[in-house]
Amino acid sequence: MADLFIGLMSGTSMDGIDTALVDFTSRQPNILATHNHCYPAVLQQQLENALGLAAPLNTDLATIDDAVGDIFSVATNELLGKAGIEAEQVTAIGSHGQTIRHDPDAPKPYSLQIGNPNIIARNTGIDVVADFRRADIEAGGQGAPLVPAFHQAVFADNSEDRVILNIGGIANITILTPANDTQVSGFDTGPGNTLMDNWAQTHLQTSMDINGDWAAAGQVDTALLEHMLTDTYFQAVPPKSTGREYFNPHWLSQYTADGDATANSIQTTLCELTARTAATAIQLYADSAKRLLVCGGGVHNLQLMKRLAANLPGLTVDTTATCGINPDWVEAAAFAWLAKQHLEGKPGNIPAVTGASEAVSLGRLVRQPPENVL
Ligand SMILES: Nc1ncnc2c1ncn2[C@@H]1O[C@H](COP(=O)(O)OP(=O)(O)O)[C@@H](O)[C@H]1O
Ligand SMILES: [Mg+2]
Repeated sequence: MADLFIGLMSGTSMDGIDTALVDFTSRQPNILATHNHCYPAVLQQQLENALGLAAPLNTDLATIDDAVGDIFSVATNELLGKAGIEAEQVTAIGSHGQTIRHDPDAPKPYSLQIGNPNIIARNTGIDVVADFRRADIEAGGQGAPLVPAFHQAVFADNSEDRVILNIGGIANITILTPANDTQVSGFDTGPGNTLMDNWAQTHLQTSMDINGDWAAAGQVDTALLEHMLTDTYFQAVPPKSTGREYFNPHWLSQYTADGDATANSIQTTLCELTARTAATAIQLYADSAKRLLVCGGGVHNLQLMKRLAANLPGLTVDTTATCGINPDWVEAAAFAWLAKQHLEGKPGNIPAVTGASEAVSLGRLVRQPPENVL
């Protein structure tokens, strides 16, 4: 009997909704089907606005909450079609939703994801677990990163210290040491792709620096890099998490305003910033690690992967594909797993990672409407 769950994830890059159908029958999850579904351009712009980078949070919030729920449903139904699987064969969906606010260090900490799960449950006929971050925030945690528990369940190895590095819009690490698996730790190291994406959008009019070719063509501006590295986020001791509310074009302009670096050299420097801050975090907090497994869209930025390896000469740098999970689908699979954890009454956070006072069950369950029950 298969043990099927679906994970739905859209990260800070807003490069589309990742959906994965995962079978958890054996210890190693088996990803049976995947589908990436882009946001319609108008909704994407509304989401960018809601992030507060272009305009203050506006009254459209309720509308876009439902619109994201709608498009997540469409993405799920297309995934089911691709897989040739009926809704009733799937136990539940874990939907991360779309983050539009994340400030765990505010006087009243919060993290807000939208994508109305009631709509997803109705349109798919599958129970939905959503709103994963707020229980951890209520327990005094950062609400992020949440993928380390999944990384531990799937990638931990009892003979080797490993680090998982997920390079989405923001980058986060999970440190897996076999000696003491209750001590799993992890945190956001800083920007992943987001600053490079923004810079490419402005100067190349493309959504990203494809394969990192532009970054590879320039020179690092050492003075600019050293200046950016003085930012307080990089010095802060974990637990810590961040988002595009912090690392955005405004953040970058604080460092580039007075300089004379070329646009190309700034891109190369941003690539080095991501590689260097991740590498430094690994050297500081996981000095016994032998292997680095990378996942997230950043694996496709070849210059970034090259610079990561160059900054970590003692480590073997691979992608999670070498451990059986395609790097593009690790996060979606993680939210499928977190839905399973929820239904089994098991915790989803790791207090040593998020800073929460205790391990708690994450998410809220929305049952599919009765008319869909067979
Ligand atoms: N071919 C590619 N070349 C360079 N960068 C890429 C490529 N494919 C994906 N990326 C990067 O990966 C990002 C998406 O990664 P993802 O893990 O989905 O992040 P998020 O979780 O923030 O959505 C894109 O915004 C882009 O920066
Ligand atoms: Mg993405």
